[in-house]
Amino acid sequence: MSLGWSAKEHKPTNQPAAAAGLKRPRNDVENRVTVVLGAQWGDEGKGKVVDLLATEADVVCRCQGGNNAGHTVVVDGKEYDFHLLPSGIINPKSISLIGNGVVIHLPGLFEEGDKNEKKGLKGWEKRLIVSDRAHLVFDFHQVVDGLQETERQAQEGKNIGTTKKGIGPAYSSKASRTGLRVCDLLGDIKDFSSKFKNLVRQYQSMYPSLTVDVEDQLKKLKEYSERLRPMVRDGVYYMYEALHGSPKKILVEGANAALLDIDFGTYPFVTSSNCTVGGACTGLGIPPLNIGDVFGVAKAYTTRVGIGAFPTEQLNAVGELLQTRGHEVGVTTGRKRRCGWLDLVIVRYAHMINGFTAIALTKLDILDVLEEIKVGIAYKLNGKKIPHFPANMDVLHKVEVEYETFSGWKTDTSAARKWSDLPVKAQNYIRFIENHIGVPIKWVGVGKSRECMIQMF
Ligand code: GDP
Ligand code: IMO
Ligand code: MG
Repeated sequence: MSLGWSAKEHKPTNQPAAAAGLKRPRNDVENRVTVVLGAQWGDEGKGKVVDLLATEADVVCRCQGGNNAGHTVVVDGKEYDFHLLPSGIINPKSISLIGNGVVIHLPGLFEEGDKNEKKGLKGWEKRLIVSDRAHLVFDFHQVVDGLQETERQAQEGKNIGTTKKGIGPAYSSKASRTGLRVCDLLGDIKDFSSKFKNLVRQYQSMYPSLTVDVEDQLKKLKEYSERLRPMVRDGVYYMYEALHGSPKKILVEGANAALLDIDFGTYPFVTSSNCTVGGACTGLGIPPLNIGDVFGVAKAYTTRVGIGAFPTEQLNAVGELLQTRGHEVGVTTGRKRRCGWLDLVIVRYAHMINGFTAIALTKLDILDVLEEIKVGIAYKLNGKKIPHFPANMDVLHKVEVEYETFSGWKTDTSAARKWSDLPVKAQNYIRFIENHIGVPIKWVGVGKSRECMIQMF
């Protein structure tokens, strides 16, 4: 059974493009990229789905976000957590690529690699490629992230609940065109130092309490740059060659998720990158035509870390049960995740934007003990159903959720390995979700490890 790859070959031809009936010249072999994306507010189990596909992948890429992500992979009873490294780094036969759309905190990257090396991850530095166009997150970006949170709390009485990994400030530097990239660090160090000093001054003028030991920072960055240098490539050209060379299985691992997307998420309680499918194109330099399967990952219930509207949240015994049974604690920050019923309004919304070709439904096993399971199927405003997902958070806070109620299967599903091993009530739950979203469910997760994934087709 195929894992779900969609590498498509175009046969070589020496005919002029127009005569060959092509809209544009495509006289070489092209590969299509498989994309894995979060369909809720993050932590859906993307790492596990990527790990499953990565066993056959040639290249595994990150296209956006930074070490705000926390992806767990459990192999042979060992648990690895990845933040900046693509989860595919675990596969000794594949190359991992950190694309231009990612923001990189170098101390974080090396700390993560070294930590996982101690757990048994060998040779990762030789398998990692870093785009020269990726922007850098500096220590002061992380400090500023904290200062901005304090300011929000003081001014508005609430903050965003960021991971404080410097993601917002680093993407702000990128957008205001004062950011520094990997290619700058590896270029003329004098030039880099002067731009770095300017950037520090800019932030200090906004945050007078910000102190930065510039010389110490530059010394450390210089050291990191030498360790990084062998990994750096022109990411666009690397991807072009991967797409147009011999058949290759290329996987893109989304970080964060649709409802945290800077454009489509629950703004302003979002992250600072595009975590939807467009991010795969802009964050790696992939033409849209080369996007193949887009797999959405959704939990069988919903969780959210940080602040923001959450219509199906259960601030009661059900929420507590999901939190404890699901071990719903943030991988990056150690914060308890907020929990609630599966919200199909948000998953359908994620599908509108991403055009999922199939869904991975994870953590079904967590629902095993429930008497009754609810699924949010529509939002009502002033008693009327609304067909869209509200842009305004004040509106989202006011929606009333319409639920479908299922009686629980009350059976341990953790040992199920095929569809027929699942109780009929669990099968009905899955089929309902599939029909409601209008996308086939390809995998169902019933446990943490690699083998706890039922493949449906
Ligand atoms: P990601 O950020 O989307 O990669 O997800 P996280 O790693 O932050 O959180 C998902 C958590 O659920 C991790 O602890 C996984 O090991 C765990 N997990 C993933 N799939 C399943 C599943 O099907 N069942 C159970 N019980 N745990 C799972
Ligand atoms: P993965 O890839 C869950 C949330 C933060 C905060 C908001 C903004 O593991 O699914 P940021 O530090 O990005 O500026 O924080 O976004 N957030 C995540 N929540 N999983 C993630 O990633 C997240 N990445 C960011 O909690 O509410
Ligand atoms: Mg996570």
